[in-house]
Amino acid sequence: MELLVLTKHDNPVPSHYLTTGGRNPTAFLMMLGYAIKPLTQPTRYYNFWTQEDVTMYGLVNKTLQEMVIDRYGNAKWEEIRKESGIESLFFITMECYPDEMTYKLVAGASSVLSVPADQLIRSFGEHWFQVAKTGYKDILDFAGDNFVDFLKNLDSMHTRVGLIFTGFRPPSFKCTDVTDSSLRLHYYSERHGLSPLVEGLLVSVGKHFSLEVDAVLDKSKAGGCDHDEFIVHFRKA
Ligand code: HEM
Repeated sequence: MELLVLTKHDNPVPSHYLTTGGRNPTAFLMMLGYAIKPLTQPTRYYNFWTQEDVTMYGLVNKTLQEMVIDRYGNAKWEEIRKESGIESLFFITMECYPDEMTYKLVAGASSVLSVPADQLIRSFGEHWFQVAKTGYKDILDFAGDNFVDFLKNLDSMHTRVGLIFTGFRPPSFKCTDVTDSSLRLHYYSERHGLSPLVEGLLVSVGKHFSLEVDAVLDKSKAGGCDHDEFIVHFRKA
């Protein structure tokens, strides 16, 4: 059962956060006098230690760290971490971290590696899908056996992902104007600056289906639209 744990300062902490890593501290917390009650409404997630409103699962920062270390080595990552003002030496997959931390890491990496942030985010998108293919193969297999169906099913795929990453805040996608070789992909997110992530993901998803894909941002939130729209072309690789 999902529980809401109220700390002595009345800050809610979701029990799933507390029980990650095989620990179950509920009884221990009750013994210490913390109030525990069932969750009736979904709650926003808070970082237990910093009490900040957090929203991004550690899997994201962890994957970014692994990608940078793989490509540039440990020393560079250390430089990036310091440049970004991030103290965590590592990230826990199932723990939530402030979005701000991810943005700082990207800005730090961009400055230390002299790679434009958009380019880094795009590469991260490509890498993210490769990681997802290894760790979450069953969920991906279930999403569709061709490129277009897969994109149409992204929301239900993320809903399934949400059974593991409870309370996460995934984006939403819609396909329109579908032809044999193109479509318009609508991308809705409460975050900003992540359209290159989608471009990278699309390239990788295309490769997964032996397709060459190019995605051009046609309308954007930055340009005043309420969501981003890509014109996506795909052909046999
Ligand atoms: C099984 C594979 C996947 C898993 C496990 C997964 C999981 C996640 C997680 C944990 C987040 C962070 C959200 C949060 O913590 O609140 C996220 C965000 C995101 N995911 Fe997925 N995802 C998968 C596949 C995909 C695919 C195939 C796409 C698109 C083609 C996609 C697009 C995105 C985007 C764009 C975000 C950024 C958040 C935003 O836009 O607001 N994901 N995903």
